[in-house]
Amino acid sequence: FSLKPYNTFGVDVKAKYFIEITTIEELKEAICYSKNHNLKILFLGGGSNILLTKNFEGLVIKLSLKGIEEKDLSENKVLVTAKAGENWHEFVMYSLEKNYGGLENLSLIPGNVGTSPMQNIGAYGAEIKDTFVNCTVLDLENLELKSFNLEQCHFGYRDSIFKQEGKGKYVILEVSFTLTKKDHHIKTEYGAIKTELDHLGITNPTIQDVSRAVINIRQSKLPDPKVIGNAGSFFKNPTIPLTQFEELKLKFENIPGYPNGKVVKVPAGWLIEQCGWKGKQIGNTASHQLQALVIVNATGNATGKEIYDFSTEIINSVQKKFGIELEREVNII
Ligand code: EPU
Repeated sequence: FSLKPYNTFGVDVKAKYFIEITTIEELKEAICYSKNHNLKILFLGGGSNILLTKNFEGLVIKLSLKGIEEKDLSENKVLVTAKAGENWHEFVMYSLEKNYGGLENLSLIPGNVGTSPMQNIGAYGAEIKDTFVNCTVLDLENLELKSFNLEQCHFGYRDSIFKQEGKGKYVILEVSFTLTKKDHHIKTEYGAIKTELDHLGITNPTIQDVSRAVINIRQSKLPDPKVIGNAGSFFKNPTIPLTQFEELKLKFENIPGYPNGKVVKVPAGWLIEQCGWKGKQIGNTASHQLQALVIVNATGNATGKEIYDFSTEIINSVQKKFGIELEREVNII
């Protein structure tokens, strides 16, 4: 069974077995089946943050639970719960149509609602932890439902309990957010949002305007996975000690950095570009010409291994030039 349509890199690997589930009962049955037959399981959501490097000799379970529910909390707050298989961007658009605020800065992020808590998706000055209330998961050991609240999720930069101690133990089934109904908190501080709003001639932006601005910025530099395979940022932005940053600054005076106490976050895109990778292609794989942090399946024929090897070369050259070790953000399977 080819997984090519199920991963945004468009890598053509095969799964021995594949099932798409739309109810919790089907999910439990599929899990029991694989336990009884000693099959490894790979859960797939939107397939937008994985790199498949070889054929999968087990059962792939595609999570397609659908539905959105709302509950009024107060004059200004609404609790919105979306099932794991809802497409993230469509969910954001749904909230904006209802004029619910809180997710607008996260417009156009690829993937599904169910994977959003895994890496605490974030962009343009917002992260899901800002509006997240809780998520319901299926515990793979006893097949019981369990809830994780904000605190229990241990959200960090591109990080959560589901990537740490909870890794491989749960399947996220639905996620709840508290959104605003009228007193929206408009966030335009990040990077190019203000410039883009100026561009659009907007001085007093609504949440829908912020979303439009974010969509424009993303479309101007991030490749559309439907056109050219990719998984967004391939690496995390590394955090280094302030002392190391200051030493680097002596040698590379333009190095950008966002200080936070005794550490500094450095944009990986800049480091990669400085090593000459931006727009560079080797075989079927390339670093995107407009955003070096994104690795693309340039010809559509790249294998997962090729993409992985390309990323290793990037890691090695950044290490050599800057003494900084880049960490992959994409899940390698
Ligand atoms: N930069 C370069 N060259 C490049 C790319 C970036 O010099 O080729 C510099 C830019 O000039 C800028 C800085 O790096 O000064 C930051 O660039 P950008 O605003 O594009 O953001 P980023 O740090 O590269 C992060 C997220 C993105 C998110 C944007 C916007 C990570 C790993 N990536 O990228 O998330 O959309 O900020 O908030 O934190 C994703 O996770 O898949 C993703 C796209």
